[in-house]
Amino acid sequence: MSSAIDSVLTETRVFGPFDRVAATANISGMDAYRALCEEAEADLDGFWGRLAREHLVWDKPFTRVLNDSDAPFYRWFDDGELNVSANCLDRHLGTPTANKTAIIFEADDGQVTRITYKELYERVCQFANGIKSLGYKKGDRAIIYLPMSIEVVVAMQACARLGITHSVVFGGFSSKSLHERCVDVGATLVITADEQKRGGRNIPLKSAVDEALSQAGTEGVRHVIVYRRSGSSVEWKDGRDIWMHELVEGQGTDCEPVPVNAEHPLFILYTSGSTGKPKGVQHSSGGYLLSALLTMLWTFDVKDDDIFWCTADVGWVTGHTYIVYGPLAAGVTQIMFEGVPTYPTAARFWEMIERHQCTIFYTAPTAIRSLIKAAESNDEYHPKKFDLTSLRIIGSVGEPINPEAWMWYFTHVGRERCPVLDTWWQTETGVHILTPLPGVTPLKPGSCTLPLPGIEAAIIDENGQELPPGTGGFLVIKKPWPAMIRTIWGDPERFKKSYFPPEAKGYYLAGDGAQRDADGYFWIMGRIDDVLNVSGHRLGTMEVESAMVAHPLVAEAAVVGRQDATTGEAVVAFVVLKRPVPTGEEAQQLARELRDWVGKEIGPIAKPREIRFGENLPKTRSGKIMRRLLRVVALNEEITQDVSTLENPAILDQLSQAY
Ligand code: WTA
Repeated sequence: MSSAIDSVLTETRVFGPFDRVAATANISGMDAYRALCEEAEADLDGFWGRLAREHLVWDKPFTRVLNDSDAPFYRWFDDGELNVSANCLDRHLGTPTANKTAIIFEADDGQVTRITYKELYERVCQFANGIKSLGYKKGDRAIIYLPMSIEVVVAMQACARLGITHSVVFGGFSSKSLHERCVDVGATLVITADEQKRGGRNIPLKSAVDEALSQAGTEGVRHVIVYRRSGSSVEWKDGRDIWMHELVEGQGTDCEPVPVNAEHPLFILYTSGSTGKPKGVQHSSGGYLLSALLTMLWTFDVKDDDIFWCTADVGWVTGHTYIVYGPLAAGVTQIMFEGVPTYPTAARFWEMIERHQCTIFYTAPTAIRSLIKAAESNDEYHPKKFDLTSLRIIGSVGEPINPEAWMWYFTHVGRERCPVLDTWWQTETGVHILTPLPGVTPLKPGSCTLPLPGIEAAIIDENGQELPPGTGGFLVIKKPWPAMIRTIWGDPERFKKSYFPPEAKGYYLAGDGAQRDADGYFWIMGRIDDVLNVSGHRLGTMEVESAMVAHPLVAEAAVVGRQDATTGEAVVAFVVLKRPVPTGEEAQQLARELRDWVGKEIGPIAKPREIRFGENLPKTRSGKIMRRLLRVVALNEEITQDVSTLENPAILDQLSQAY
């Protein structure tokens, strides 16, 4: 947090707008941007209604734009019907886009596969026919646990085609996390692969599904469809398990898209919140797709000849919106990558940009920071060694990008000719909310700049009072927008409590601290709740704590985030065992065991970087754990705060020395 605040005070550099980009931009300049903002301000319904009619293909036109009769459960275009897959694929048939490459897929080992829009349409139809033949239909829920592949796009689009709500689980999550999501979402179908390939390694997926489905609460799952990726042998449950290639064999290459209400849940995506249980963020069909497409046109400024590359995994919202739905609806050619940025070397991204002539590149600060490190230690991995002149726009998402990383990205990747789009948004917002626009916004390193047209953002204090520029507070969005979260699956009360608490006075509370500067630019300071951001992945401290206390030896655990130069934040855990405090080799051994345990309970991304054992945790006399103090201890800094309210101040010394 503090580094972001400092940069607001000291950052004075301004870059752009960039004439080369502005000359052809879809939103042609500040005046055009302002005009759109004013149109929305004057008539929100008219604005979104116009765009929804212009940009989407409706089976049944809507007559109502925003229905706020049950706020904050907002509904958009809710008497209209459409099909999302038809809007991503069928709309291009019979146009020149049909024979254009939809996806350039590069495998972990470098093998490249291309698929056109027409071919993708046919594969989606075949797969949809396959799952239809198994009896799945509109209203069912499918869990998708697949690696980065053309197949995952096919699976998601096929679900959308039939009105089956999908819930994608990131391949890095454990069988336990997978199980929780299967149960919570009430899945009847699971789509997975034998294994995934990343960084030269094979990582099993099917066996995690088997394990998840052997647990109670998943009896409703009738089929597991398996994409054969590695060819390694897997256990097989006859009657339940089906190979994807066998299912689609002989299926027709057309499949009538099922029209659904605009509010029909397209997907549910789990994300961390401030309690132990992840939240199932429910998204709509019409409003979500409209904004996914508009942000492709506005933020990424896509043109017919662009080669777009979003490096996110489809297991996160970024992959949903900017791989599976936005780019296809926009009819753009995109690169999709199976592997990791550092395999076989840390030059992989730069090589791929050059090889595929990428024009729009979208990645995360954590990747940028690790590639900076690699480039600084070995010149061969430096982007200057590669021809990156195809790039026009470069973007960033997932966490605050520090001004140093921003400048490096701008200078060495964008060669000072490409705007850096620092896009702020969330799983819940569905799409970009605060972001620069290529032909419009002068850039300040470290700021996500201004709201998109139709979005009104503000900073409030704890009483809901709007704060003036230069004062830090809570980021809110004042009016509903079409791609917003509809509810938390199965828990509407939690939805209201998390995002529309009384203090926020009817505004959407984002959960981020932020401030505005005198130019109205937003500067994000980080989460204000107990959510960490590790390598751009959201992680609840309570989630990690519950995983740790589930270990038979652990009596109590407290988890905090520590600033980290590469991953943004790192997990530091303070643990009280049900046995005396271990030291030396025993402590190291137990720490390893607990890290692996958390890996199994949640997934490798949640493994604590550091574990410190103590007899106790610092608590107030009323028993509340003082995480504030633990954050200082985790940084190995001296405690200057008043500790007189602590029940057991001596514990702080013990935990400090435990390092
Ligand atoms: C953080 C990812 C600063 C923020 C799309 C938010 C950012 C959380 C930015 C959402 C950014 C995302 N600058 N912080 N440009 N983008 N964040 O749900 O704290 O995985 O609340 O969505 O990431 O993470 P999520």
